[in-house]
Amino acid sequence: MAAPILGFSKKTKDQKIQWLAETYFAKDPLGVDVLKKYWNSDSKLQSLHDDFIENTLSNYYLPLGVAPNFLINKKLLTLPMVTEESSVVAAASNAAKFWLDKGGFTAKVISTQKNGQIHIDFFGKDSDINNFFSEVKPKLIQSIDAIQNSMQKRGGGLTGITLVNSTDALEGYYQLHCTFETLDAMGANFINSCLETIAKTFEAEAQNYISFKTNIVFPEIVLSILSNSVPECMVRAELSCPIELLSTKDIDGAVFAKKFVRAVAIAKVEPRRAVTHNKGIMNGVDALVIATGNDFRAVEAGAHSYACKSGNYTSLTDAKVENGIFSFWIEIPLALGTIGGLTGLHPLVKFAFSLLQKPNATELMEIIAVAGLAQNFAAIKSLVTTGIQKGHMKMHLMNILNQLETTKPEKTLALAYFINNTITHSSVVSYIDQLRS
Ligand code: MEV
Repeated sequence: MAAPILGFSKKTKDQKIQWLAETYFAKDPLGVDVLKKYWNSDSKLQSLHDDFIENTLSNYYLPLGVAPNFLINKKLLTLPMVTEESSVVAAASNAAKFWLDKGGFTAKVISTQKNGQIHIDFFGKDSDINNFFSEVKPKLIQSIDAIQNSMQKRGGGLTGITLVNSTDALEGYYQLHCTFETLDAMGANFINSCLETIAKTFEAEAQNYISFKTNIVFPEIVLSILSNSVPECMVRAELSCPIELLSTKDIDGAVFAKKFVRAVAIAKVEPRRAVTHNKGIMNGVDALVIATGNDFRAVEAGAHSYACKSGNYTSLTDAKVENGIFSFWIEIPLALGTIGGLTGLHPLVKFAFSLLQKPNATELMEIIAVAGLAQNFAAIKSLVTTGIQKGHMKMHLMNILNQLETTKPEKTLALAYFINNTITHSSVVSYIDQLRS
């Protein structure tokens, strides 16, 4: 068993790699060389990436692809997508192309409010903490003047602060529920700085409050943090067209629309289907969130918590046919930033923003909601017609061919052969074996 190491973070990158080589790769000294293969030859660029996190040893590539032909609010865009899943970009591109001559996507931000809480223990009289809060509230707001000065100048900042009695859920549990407008910033740092300062002020002021002193019962801060549940930071994206326009050479438009609406209805009522249905939505959402340097864990957490806001986990999208018109829409909470964080640092994130024509945060919410809707449209379209495996395995074929280190001519032959033959790992292996013998 390896011995613990102290002061690891203070070692140089080479020393860290050396330690790994000795500790875990003694039998395979070349095992760590792969780390160096992925270093960028531009040392300035490499050092920029090194500083994103602690103990960076190398870079971990994911493909950055693009999906063109997205008509969003009458503007034609090409979406940058970062994902490891082989069929995601192709599916997005197909959906974009399918809707291009049918009016494209419309999207609209519904609300942009973020929130955070200061979680408090207080085992005294409810009226005491209520009176204290009313008195101290202006001081709490004043205490964050310096932090929110520039945000306020741009029209954002703290928008509300309320004391919530949560003692029914947990004995002695109160919260200060704070709401924020963070404009083009995702706002996590801003919100957390505000919350921690308000919390300190709250606790310090409480020490001098007469009723608390008399009863020798003081409120104590447990923790202060933003919430990734953002149901007041919502965007809606929508598709609609007469059902006849949905006809393809393989299926009549009305039949397709009926099957499609039914598939969404199943995801509305059956949580096991809803989870997979929403996972497909997040294939599109996350690919854009990552490409634009945003926090995909925050977005995932917010989206899934919203999907079960009624108590039952359900689909984030909905569909209907009314008076011969097919409509399909998504409402999803998205806390995103177009300034701050990685957005001004990572060269590929800068590229993504330039490609998207420099959207602000609300425009980015619209674009990313569209990506989720498009991905879901493509998935359901396949599922209710050909099935998903046809497209998936076509993309997977290339991964298998690469694993087998096939040459270009071998690839060309294999791609042609597997148009009409079933793709499995073993069928590809035996086809290539046969070619090579
Ligand atoms: C695969 O990554 C996503 C799908 O499973 C989504 C769905 O079932 O709707 C195809």
